[in-house]
Amino acid sequence: MKEFVKLVIDGKELSLPVIEGSEGEKAIDIRSLRQETGYITFDPGFGNTGTCRSTITYMDGEKGILRYRGVPIEQLAEHSTFVETAFLLISGHLPSREELTRTSVYLNDFSPLHENMKAFYQNYPPKAHPMGILSAMVNAMRSFYPELIDIEEDMNKTYLRLISKIRTMSAMAYRISLGEKVVYPRPDLCYCANFLNMMFDNVVVPYRMDDDMVRALNVFWILHADHEQNCSTTAVRVVGSGKVNIYSAISAGISALWGPLHGGANQAVVNMLEKIHNDGMTVKECISKAKDSNDPFRLYGFGHRVYKTHDPRAKIMKKMCDIILAKTKRKDPLLDIVQRLEETALKDSYFKDKNLYPNVDFYSGIVLRAMGIPTNMFTVMFAIGRLPGWIAQWKEDVADPEMRISRPRQVYTGDQSRDYIPIDDRG
Ligand code: CMC
Repeated sequence: MKEFVKLVIDGKELSLPVIEGSEGEKAIDIRSLRQETGYITFDPGFGNTGTCRSTITYMDGEKGILRYRGVPIEQLAEHSTFVETAFLLISGHLPSREELTRTSVYLNDFSPLHENMKAFYQNYPPKAHPMGILSAMVNAMRSFYPELIDIEEDMNKTYLRLISKIRTMSAMAYRISLGEKVVYPRPDLCYCANFLNMMFDNVVVPYRMDDDMVRALNVFWILHADHEQNCSTTAVRVVGSGKVNIYSAISAGISALWGPLHGGANQAVVNMLEKIHNDGMTVKECISKAKDSNDPFRLYGFGHRVYKTHDPRAKIMKKMCDIILAKTKRKDPLLDIVQRLEETALKDSYFKDKNLYPNVDFYSGIVLRAMGIPTNMFTVMFAIGRLPGWIAQWKEDVADPEMRISRPRQVYTGDQSRDYIPIDDRG
């Protein structure tokens, strides 16, 4: 039976339908609110606002649950590959062997870049941040690959083209930033192995592929593959709602991800740890700075809009951090700092009372360092991982009959109507 809630405004009673999700989450459908009452809702940051119905990702922030298309993140991290998880997110089901093989063939076919695109990188200033380059390059794909953006089957190719090329572009940006020869993708390597090879292979020191490293990269990207309506995904949906092409919508997502409160947090965490390590800041000072409301500094890698308990991705990332460091026999001085910070913050009443726990970015920087990824590439690593999620969300959005162009309202608090004053008469 359909459920309704009653809202009384200015003595007028309004009956608003309740929408219930498949996991029992409830929402009040306020679509008739303004027309019926003249009122709008006020919810900066959209903390209480559902903007779509979605079948892609389920999160329970109180219980620390994350599932892609119903499959728990823990199971995907243990058994799946990044390519298989990407297929699951975009298509809604786990692929058959045949579907997976076809996907791998397309990923291989699409992996080289149009040679003219290299010019983009070569003309960027040497210290340009790779996120800025990546966002521009993805937007440029609309011009380099204008075909295949309408027909259903071709759209699937476009998704795979994006997933394949983002990896080539990212590795290429890194090589060019070092002034080194670009390494091209190889048909005999899987998605993750190919990325590592393009990043690190060298004519004088050939890259030695390590299965554990490849597995770690698969897990890293699986953990980042989607996270329902976060800042960058919302950017993709909002920009996409204007019916712009997919490349431009994804490019907007990359720009949104760059910020230190979102995907840029992984770089911000390592910058913070290095500050403690190199500049002699103590863990205690760092925690007090984070607690000081007059100081804009935050404990990066801590807190989350949805999770009010441990982020399930952070637990897996922490375990992976131990495995990778043991494997590489690497002693990272930042690991000790990150552990001490976590221990101190979790005992501190400020963090306890506000339910602030480590998020996915707290340990991810240490994992990426152990893989040899430079700090300014960290957020690019997040972007490559998040791409299947953005594609799945964009696809769902454009096919949704309830979707309209995103156009929120506001509460105007500026001056009331006043006359224009000619410049000579202004006091
Ligand atoms: N360090 C210190 N105080 C914090 C932190 C933190 N990391 N996170 C939240 N707070 C405080 C905040 O100051 C506020 O205090 P008060 O109520 O006294 O004003 C309270 O906790 C609630 O925080 P908020 O900023 O209103 O919460 P939000 O839901 O708007 O922000 C967040 C979520 C992730 C932006 C925030 O926790 C944060 O800035 N964390 C650090 C950046 C970070 O690690 N981001 C990565 C998030 S996970 C990857 C992703 O999916 O993007």
